[in-house]
Amino acid sequence: MARLSETEGLAYDDVLLVPQRTSLTSRKEAVISTMLTRNLGLQIPIVSANMDTVTEASMAIAVARLGGLGIVHRYMTISDEVYHVEKVKRSESIVIDSPYTVKPQDTIEEALGIMKRRGVRGLPVVDEKRVLVGILTFRDTLFVNFPAKVKVAEAMTAQPKLVAGKFGISPEDAKKIFEANRLEKLPLVDDQGRLCGLITVKDIIEKKILYPNSVKDKKGRLLAGAAIGVKGDFMERAEALVAAGADVLVLDIAHGHATYAIDAVKKLKAKFSGNVPIIAGNTATYEGTKELALAGADAVKVGVGPGATCTTRLVTGAGVPQFTAICDAARVTQELGVPIIADGGIRKSGDVVKALAAGASTVMIGTLLAGTEESPGPVINRGGVRYKVCRGMASLGAAFGRASRFGDELEDEDATQVVAEGVEALVPYRGSCAEIVNQLIGGLQSGMSYCGARTISELCNKAVFIKITQPAHIESRPHDLERP
Ligand code: XMP
Repeated sequence: MARLSETEGLAYDDVLLVPQRTSLTSRKEAVISTMLTRNLGLQIPIVSANMDTVTEASMAIAVARLGGLGIVHRYMTISDEVYHVEKVKRSESIVIDSPYTVKPQDTIEEALGIMKRRGVRGLPVVDEKRVLVGILTFRDTLFVNFPAKVKVAEAMTAQPKLVAGKFGISPEDAKKIFEANRLEKLPLVDDQGRLCGLITVKDIIEKKILYPNSVKDKKGRLLAGAAIGVKGDFMERAEALVAAGADVLVLDIAHGHATYAIDAVKKLKAKFSGNVPIIAGNTATYEGTKELALAGADAVKVGVGPGATCTTRLVTGAGVPQFTAICDAARVTQELGVPIIADGGIRKSGDVVKALAAGASTVMIGTLLAGTEESPGPVINRGGVRYKVCRGMASLGAAFGRASRFGDELEDEDATQVVAEGVEALVPYRGSCAEIVNQLIGGLQSGMSYCGARTISELCNKAVFIKITQPAHIESRPHDLERP
């Protein structure tokens, strides 16, 4: 016999947080660092969604610089996903382990090609034995009239002006060399003069000032997450992504409370000997979340159907309203210490506060970030208004896009064969991702102040929710105003 759950299914808009006495004198006093997984911390509780209209390298770099994390989507070939993870990991670091190089006999045109493709503005020049013989900066190339003919050796800085550091040099000593020589890049060499690293002034000085909150690994590289599936080549993909430097893997399927997902979590934990954090999902219940956590997941992604582009609930009749799903799943955090990620349906900063107060440790955001500069895809101009495309990963558009990227036959298939659980839409162009994220965290800090909470765990412990009626909901929004 089917049964009817006694729990009421509530969405974010069904509740408000009851204001409480606060000792905070400014919202800035609220500390919003949090745990993404059991052992991996973030400076802000924001994670960008692994959707192909949301997170590739640019978004992952931008979000990590703000203190959150981007999860590169998996709807591309393994080598493409690896490319995006590597791009994030190479975007900054204390020492670049294997810098891109050129040979003295290469042409300036070839060197410029590497600079453009790799997004760098300078290349160490090495001989056949990888001995450093010079450095070529973008500036050196500006005054070359025939780049296709002129060799790198003719334009590079070579001895006696070439400055290099010893491998193992401390960032402080590197800074002194930068200052004394007004350099931008410092190649590092071993005792035989062979190139074994590169330090840039941008990484160790400029970016620290520009992005004080950025989240980094031990080598000073930005953190990057990457998504994998649960079938086919998922293990090969996982290995390639970890080798590329991914700090966390997200095993992402629509219905994560599934035997094959639980088995996959176990296999991944065994494969990487527990050294790579695995986030699994998606779930919508206490039971599903607990089973994934017991299988070894280091965090669980919660949300079935709340996303702006999701139609899962309409198509399948299944799902749990997101606020209730988080409250339920958060019991697992209390019992087992496994954090949960509230995935989907965040439309405004108040929703972030409610999700964290309900027990989530981070929120995953898709559509809100899809309209930003850093999301993949072009800006579309329609009637003078700028938009970008956002699509559910189970939408028809995503299925066909995926098929063409993987060279599958789906394009020729009848579209009615695909049962879509998502839609494709235009979203307003919203400028930089930092603007959106700053609004969200500003609202979060204010919300914490209303609850008298100095930290996210205090927010969760103290929160008192009140269920509201439809008239109360109307009262909560701007009302009785004429549109200008
Ligand atoms: P928002 O509301 O931030 O939600 O855009 C992002 C989350 O939505 C999920 N997602 C989907 N869910 N069909 C679904 O039912 C889809 O096509 C789809 N695409 C994305 C996903 O969990 C994402 O993080």
